[in-house]
Amino acid sequence: MLPSFSLKDHTVLLTGAAGLFGRGLASALAEAGATLIIASRSADKLQAVAEEETARGHRVLAEAFDQGDEASILALKSRIEEKFGPLHGLVNNSVLRPMKGANGSVEQWEDSMRVNATGVMLMHRHFGSSMAAAGRGSIVNIGSIQGSIGPSYELYAGTNMGDMPPDYFFHKGGMVNLTRFYAALYGPNNVRVNCLAPGGFFNNQPELFVQRYSEHTMLNRMADNDDLGGSVVFLLSAASRYITGVNLPVDGGYTAK
Ligand SMILES: NC(=O)c1ccc[n+]([C@@H]2O[C@H](COP(=O)([O-])OP(=O)(O)OC[C@H]3O[C@@H](n4cnc5c(N)ncnc54)[C@H](O)[C@@H]3O)[C@@H](O)[C@H]2O)c1
Repeated sequence: MLPSFSLKDHTVLLTGAAGLFGRGLASALAEAGATLIIASRSADKLQAVAEEETARGHRVLAEAFDQGDEASILALKSRIEEKFGPLHGLVNNSVLRPMKGANGSVEQWEDSMRVNATGVMLMHRHFGSSMAAAGRGSIVNIGSIQGSIGPSYELYAGTNMGDMPPDYFFHKGGMVNLTRFYAALYGPNNVRVNCLAPGGFFNNQPELFVQRYSEHTMLNRMADNDDLGGSVVFLLSAASRYITGVNLPVDGGYTAK
């Protein structure tokens, strides 16, 4: 059974690998044996991640691209496919957060949609169509519990946080059903598409918030660096070969309560 969880002989693209969740994901996917391509806008930060993982004996390559620009997505695809052929796995983890609160500007909303809606769709269209032509593949979208529930303002009372932006709830909600769309489109070609809905990552938020948030989960804590990797490896690997179109909460029970 265990070998079916391995990503050996899998070429996987992970976006946003230098970010909060992305760094832990890069380690998990590399450890599972993938040839891992990490891509986002900042080549320097990614290069540092690639060097750290290479020093641990893993195969990790850094590529710069802008998910808000179709030409950049297509150029990344050409560079990858020239070297490795169609991907086996794609993890859409990048997110742009230009809107800072409920009254953020229309320009910020549009910047968000360019990357988080149009860009995410184009990642499925361009990388997914190559997977479909190859007759295999797995796409994992990193969504959020905030794609299924509204803001819980009471968690933030008395802190300097809590002015949440509407774009995030819109595109994370859309990601759940976009997952189902591409799962249906590519399913006949043996390409699976799934979504993960993580809960909040502990990032030194105000103590009051952390305490209230933790009490709202069943495991009594926020997410950390090691919480997402196992689920993503599972969904990319043959171990989940009959799972497609799901939105899996990885939230310590937050949305089950
Ligand atoms: N942090 C949390 O508490 C939390 C909770 C639930 C879900 N998530 C989800 O997890 C994923 C990662 O979140 P995070 O908090 O680690 O994010 P982060 O802000 O730390 O990192 C986001 C990454 O996306 C990249 N990115 C932004 N714009 C891009 C573009 N135009 N092209 C390419 N890459 C771009 C950035 O360079 C960065 O590496 C996101 O999809 C987020 O919605 C996060």
